Amino acid sequence: MSYVNMEKILKNARQGGYAVGAFNIVNEMTAKASVEAAEALNAPIILQTSVKTVKQFGISEMMGFLKPIVKNAAVDVAIHLDHSTDVDFTLACIEGGWSSVMYDGSKLPLKDNIQNTKAVVEAAHKKGVTVEGELGAIVGVEDDIVVKEGESALADPKDCKVYLEATGIDAFAPAIGTAHGLYKGEVKIDYDLFKKIESFSPCPLVLHGGTGLSTDTFKRLIDLGAAKVNISTAIKIAYCSGMGEYTKMHPDQNDPLKLDAFVKDKVKEVVLKHIKLFTLLEC
Ligand code: 13P
Repeated sequence: MSYVNMEKILKNARQGGYAVGAFNIVNEMTAKASVEAAEALNAPIILQTSVKTVKQFGISEMMGFLKPIVKNAAVDVAIHLDHSTDVDFTLACIEGGWSSVMYDGSKLPLKDNIQNTKAVVEAAHKKGVTVEGELGAIVGVEDDIVVKEGESALADPKDCKVYLEATGIDAFAPAIGTAHGLYKGEVKIDYDLFKKIESFSPCPLVLHGGTGLSTDTFKRLIDLGAAKVNISTAIKIAYCSGMGEYTKMHPDQNDPLKLDAFVKDKVKEVVLKHIKLFTLLEC
């Protein structure tokens, strides 16, 4: 199909009552595994890149290996920058070919967050790039952003209204109680808050902290309007534990290609499972 931004795929998802999975890939192999999973289910997909991952490869090098995968894909694919707190780096990725970016100014005072987000939106929209924004503080560790338990804050609906009207973003991630990383204990999600924000949001809502949420939670939030769901930790776990599993099974084998193929299948399984959940096929 084609290389797209998030506009059409999230709009279709909202109208169709499903969500698009956004998977944090870490290299070419995980990108291929994710796209192959999406192709197998004929579903659109968002390949999400953390700032740390992009910096590890370099902007043009990373786009250099992602573009061919996306161009040859049989489904719509967006390449999205996740949680960028740096305006200049976000602008560099827009120039570098990303079709979508998240500018995360959630740790800033509202006024500054709005100002920075507006600057990103202005540059992005000139190039047909979509922008995701965030309000509140999503607990946990994502990339180099750490929000401790005591620093978590749900999004304030009043602030959300002001932010959404002022910035013109294309997708919005309000903090509603989900967390990055693995959940410890009970997950306390404010469904009413999510419903309230969805009722006035001009753009689709994004659910962060997807790893470890139950099928019921996904279904409930997708029913309430979540159009994009982020999965990162589950990919990292599949990758690392897949490596461990393979080397344990084959301690005397030194064939990186076989190891890669094994790990790729493990990552693909995770992506398949989540896309099925988000399109409400089955678990
Ligand atoms: P998890 O690591 O909990 O899957 O969260 C991913 C995420 O929200 C990335 O922004």
